[in-house]
Amino acid sequence: MQRFMIVGGNRLQGTVRVSGSKNSTLPIVAASLLLDGECTIKGVPRLRDVAVMRDVLVHLGADVVWEKDAMHINASSINCQDVSEDLMRRMRASNLVLGPLISRFKHAKISYPGGCNIGSRPMNLHMKGLQALGVEITEKFGYITARAQKLQGSEVYLDMPSVGATENLMMASIYAKGTTIIRNAAREPEIIDLQNFLNRMGAMVKGAGTDTIRVTGVDKLSGTTHTVIPDRIEAGTHMIAAAITGGDVIITDVIPEHLEPVINKLRETGVYVEVKDDQVRVVADKRPKSVDIKTMPYPGFPTDMQPQFMALLTVAENTSVVTETVFENRYKHVMELRRMGADIRLEGQTAVIKGMPRLSGATVEASDLRAGAALVLAALAAEDGTVLEQVEHIDRGYERLENKYNALGARIIRVNS
Ligand code: EPZ
Repeated sequence: MQRFMIVGGNRLQGTVRVSGSKNSTLPIVAASLLLDGECTIKGVPRLRDVAVMRDVLVHLGADVVWEKDAMHINASSINCQDVSEDLMRRMRASNLVLGPLISRFKHAKISYPGGCNIGSRPMNLHMKGLQALGVEITEKFGYITARAQKLQGSEVYLDMPSVGATENLMMASIYAKGTTIIRNAAREPEIIDLQNFLNRMGAMVKGAGTDTIRVTGVDKLSGTTHTVIPDRIEAGTHMIAAAITGGDVIITDVIPEHLEPVINKLRETGVYVEVKDDQVRVVADKRPKSVDIKTMPYPGFPTDMQPQFMALLTVAENTSVVTETVFENRYKHVMELRRMGADIRLEGQTAVIKGMPRLSGATVEASDLRAGAALVLAALAAEDGTVLEQVEHIDRGYERLENKYNALGARIIRVNS
C-alpha cells in the first residue's frame, strides 16, 4: 500500500496538461474485441484501471501492445469468452466486455462485478437490454452467462440513462440483424467517443450525445486508429485544485464544452474561469462563496466531480447543500473531510456543508477514486501536514497526480506504508 504525505498552504500556479479520458478508454478498449483484426488507440492514459482492462483482453486471448500512450490491440485470436472473478473484482468496468463478446461470439460469461464503495451498482438494465436483443441470460453462483442463437435488432428503453448499459447495448447490437434503438440513453461525451470509434471501424451508430441512439447491424468491421477525448473529470479536478488553493492555473488539452457544468458552478462561487480554445484558466484570489449542487446524468453536474467540489465547499463562505442523485452511497469522503475539520451534516442523499475558514491536516484514507482525489484537494488547502492512505485508489483514475500538482507548487511525497 502507498500513502501521500502532503503539506498544504501553497497556491498552485502554472500549467497542467490533461490526460486521455479513462471513461472513454475503457469502453473503447473493450469495443476492440468486436474486431477480427488490429486497431490502435491513442491518448491512452497510464492508469491502473486501463491496465486491468488490458489484462482482461489478454486473458480472453487478444494480443495487446501498450507503449507510452498508444495501445495496439489484435483481437483476431480470442479463444475464451469467460472473465474470471478475480479480474472482475479488480474493476467493475470489466463488465463492458459483455456487449462485444455477445455481439461477436454469441456467448459471454462474467462474474458479477458486485458493488463497490459508491453503491450496489446492479446490472439489471444491461441484462434487460441484452434480453431484448434475443440474449438468454442466466445468473448462477455469482456468474452471469449470456448466450444467443442470433441477435435481432430491437427497441430498448433504459429506466435510467446508465452509461455502462448504453455502451454495452451499443456494442451488443453492432452485428445484430436490423436496427436497434436505445431510448433514454446516456448522453455523456464518452458515449459519443465510443460511437466515433465504432463508426471508424465501419459500424453504423447514430445519435450518441442524445437520448436516442440507433444502431444498424453490419456484417464486418475493419481496423482503425482512434485518439480518445481528454478526461473531463481530471480537468475538473485540476480546476478545483486551483480554486481551493487560491491559485492561478491553466489547464490544457481540454474540450471546454465537456466542462460546462463544472465551469458554471465554479463561477457561481466567485472563482474566475477563462475559456480559450483547448484551455481553461482558473484564478481564485478570495474565499469561495457557498453554492448548492445536485448531481445529474450528463449534461447535468457530474457525480464524478461531487467529492472534489465538496472539498472546495468545506472552506467556502456560509452553507452549501450537495445532493447526490446518481449513486446511493457516494459520501464516504465526508467522514474523512470531517477529520480535517470540515463541518458536514448528512441527511439521506443530501449533505449540508458549513464552510470553515481553513481545514487542518490529519491522517485520512481514500475509499475510492474520486473520494481520494477530494482528499488530496482538501490537503492542498489545509494548514500543516496530511497523511493520505490507500492512494492506489487515486492511481486508478489519475496519472501520477502528485507529479502534476508538485509541478504547480504543491508539496506531495508518495511513500510506501
Ligand atoms: C460510469 O459508471 C462511470 N464509469 C462512472 O465513473 C460514473 O460515475 C457513472 O458512469 C455515472 O456517470 C465508467 O465509465 C467506467 P451507470 P457506470 O451505469 O456505467 C444505476 C469514475 O469515478 N444502474 O451510469 O457503472 C447505478 O447503480 C467512475 O470514473 C442500475 O440501476 O454508471 C447508478 O446508481 C465511478 N442498473 C446509476 O445507474 C444498471 O443496470 C448510474 O450508473 C446500471 C446502472
